[in-house]
Amino acid sequence: MADNIGNRQSKEYYMDVPPPSDGFFVKGLGHSDWGIKNRLSRIFNPDSGNTVMLAFDHGYIMGPTSGLERLDVTIAPLIPYVDVLMGTRGAVKTCIPPSAGKAICLRATYDTSVLFDDMTAGNGMGVDIEDAIRMNVSALAVQTFIGSSGERDSLGTLCRYIDVGDRYGIPVLGVVAVGKHMERTTEFFMLATRILAEHGASIVKTYYCDDFEKVASVCPVPLVIAGGKKLPEDEALTMAYRAISEGAHGVDMGRNIFQSEAPAAMAQAIGKIVHHDFTDKEAYEYYLQHKEAPGE
Ligand code: 5RP
Repeated sequence: MADNIGNRQSKEYYMDVPPPSDGFFVKGLGHSDWGIKNRLSRIFNPDSGNTVMLAFDHGYIMGPTSGLERLDVTIAPLIPYVDVLMGTRGAVKTCIPPSAGKAICLRATYDTSVLFDDMTAGNGMGVDIEDAIRMNVSALAVQTFIGSSGERDSLGTLCRYIDVGDRYGIPVLGVVAVGKHMERTTEFFMLATRILAEHGASIVKTYYCDDFEKVASVCPVPLVIAGGKKLPEDEALTMAYRAISEGAHGVDMGRNIFQSEAPAAMAQAIGKIVHHDFTDKEAYEYYLQHKEAPGE
C-alpha cells in the first residue's frame, strides 16, 4: 500500500512535453464517453480550449453575499459574457432563464454553512442525478476537503457523483476547498488537484499559487481557477493572466466579477485573457474602456 513514509520527493514534471490529446481538444479526456465530450464542448470553447465560468454559488453556505443579494438583478445581465453558469439548483431554477443558452455547472453537494465551527467537516449528495438530468446540466460541481476533517466524507461524495455522472454522460468538476488553517502551498495544490483527478474528476477547480505550472503539469485534466476574495480589478486580471499562461484552462470566478465596480466589463476583460490571448495589461485597458459602456 502506498504510504507517506520514506517517499522520494517528486521532481520531474515534464513541463515541456505536451499531454496526450487523443484527438479531442480537452486535456486528458480523449477517452471519455460521447455524452461527456459533448458536455465538455459546451463548457470549453473548442477554438481557445478554455472557459470562463461565472460562480454564484456562494449563497448555499454564506447566505446573501455582497453582489448576490438579488441574482436575477446582478447575475442575469452577465450571462452574455461568460461560457458557463455555476450555481446551486435553487439559484439556477429561480433566477436563470431556461432560454439562457449557456452551459450550467450545478453545485451538487450540500456542505456546512458559515455558522458551523468547521466548514470543512464534510458534505453529501444534495441533488439527485435525475434532477440534474432534468435541468440538462453540463457538469456537476463537488466540494472536497483534502487535508481537513471532511476529507474522506467529501471524497466519498465525489466518487458517488463521478459514478452516476459517468452513467449518464455528465462530467464532474471537483472543487479543492482550503481549510481555514491550511497553507496555500504549491505542494498542497499539486496533491489536492491530483487526488481529485485520480478519483475521476473531469475538471478540477483550484486556486492560483506559486509555481502554478507545476500544479497544471501534474494534473491530467483541465484546471480552472477560483478568484477568491475581491481584489482590485488589475490584480484579478493579472492573476487570471498568470494562471492561463501557466497552464490553467479557464477561470471559475465569482466575487472578482460580480463584486467589481463594473461586472460586465470585468467579465469581458477576463474573457479576453481566457479566449483571445490578451495580456493582463491589455485586458485592464479593455476593462477601463468598457467600464461605462459594457458590451460595445
Ligand atoms: C468555493 C467555490 C466558489 O464557487 C468559489 O469560491 C468561486 O468564487 P470566488 O471566485 O468568489 O472565490 O467553489 O468552494
